[in-house]
Amino acid sequence: MVTGAASGIGAGLAARFLSLGDQVVALDMDRGGLASLADQLASPNLLPAVADVTDDAQLEGALAEAVARFGHPEVLINNAGTTGGAQATTLHETPPNVADRVIDVNLRAVIRLSVAVLPAMLERRRGVILNIASVAGLVAFPGRAAYSIAKAAVIQVTRAIAVDYGRQGIRSVALCPGMIDTPMTHWRLAQPSLREEVLARIPQRTIGAVSDVVGAAAFFASDEASYCNGAAIPIDGGYSAV
Ligand SMILES: NC(=O)c1ccc[n+]([C@@H]2O[C@H](COP(=O)([O-])OP(=O)(O)OC[C@H]3O[C@@H](n4cnc5c(N)ncnc54)[C@H](O)[C@@H]3O)[C@@H](O)[C@H]2O)c1
Repeated sequence: MVTGAASGIGAGLAARFLSLGDQVVALDMDRGGLASLADQLASPNLLPAVADVTDDAQLEGALAEAVARFGHPEVLINNAGTTGGAQATTLHETPPNVADRVIDVNLRAVIRLSVAVLPAMLERRRGVILNIASVAGLVAFPGRAAYSIAKAAVIQVTRAIAVDYGRQGIRSVALCPGMIDTPMTHWRLAQPSLREEVLARIPQRTIGAVSDVVGAAAFFASDEASYCNGAAIPIDGGYSAV
C-alpha cells in the first residue's frame, strides 16, 4: 500500500512495485490523478483507492477495500505529504490551522495508517513500514517549520516501530529525500535563480529524480534489507552531510 500515489514519488513507487510483480494499493485523495495513474499503468494488480489520509472513515474504507481485494498489506509506504503551501513558513507566522494540517497529513496520518496495518503484520510476524520523511526531518528547512517538525517526528515514529516490534518480525525505515524534481518542488526548480540557490547547497550539485527514492524504497522493502531497521536514510546528494 502506497499513500500519495497519484503524483511524484508515490506514482513512481506504485509503478516500481507493480513491475516487481506485487499487488499495489495506490491511495490518494486526488481522484483524477489516481484515474490517470490507473490508465497509465493498466494493471489488474493495481487497486486505486481514493481517501484523504487525515480522514479516519475514508482510511478505514480504503483499507477494507484493499484487504478484500489483495489481503492485508505486507508493505506500507507512508508517502503522502504536503509542505503546507505559501502560508506554511516560520513557526510564529504559520496560521495554526495550516500548521495543524501539515502535521495531520505528514505525521498523524503516518501513525494512523501504521496503527491500522500493524495488527495483521504482528499476526503474521512479518511486515515493512517505509516512511517517506525528508532531510527536513534531519536538519530544519528554513521557513518550513511545521513541515520540518512533522518530518523529524516521522523519523521517530520509524524508530519507535523498529524498537517495539523488531522482535516480532516488523521492520521500519525512514527515507529522507533532499530536493527531488516532482510536482511538489517543480515550481521552485523551474525558476533559474531559485534552482541555482538550491543547487549551491547540494554537494553533488544535482537535483534528485523520483527513481532515486524509488530504487531505495524497493531495496529497503525487500528481504535484501532484512537487517535494516529503525534507520533514517538520506537520499539528498550530500545535503545533510555538510
Ligand atoms: N519532492 C521532494 O523534493 C521531496 C523531498 C523530501 C521529501 N518529500 C516527501 O516525499 C513525499 C512525496 O512527495 P512528492 O514530491 O512526490 O509530492 P507530490 O505533491 O508530487 O505528491 C504528493 C501526493 O500526496 C497526496 N496527498 C497529499 N495530501 C494527502 C492527503 N491528505 N490524503 C491523501 N493523499 C494526499 C497528493 O494528492 C499527491 O498525489 C512527501 O511526503 C514529501 O514530503 C519530497
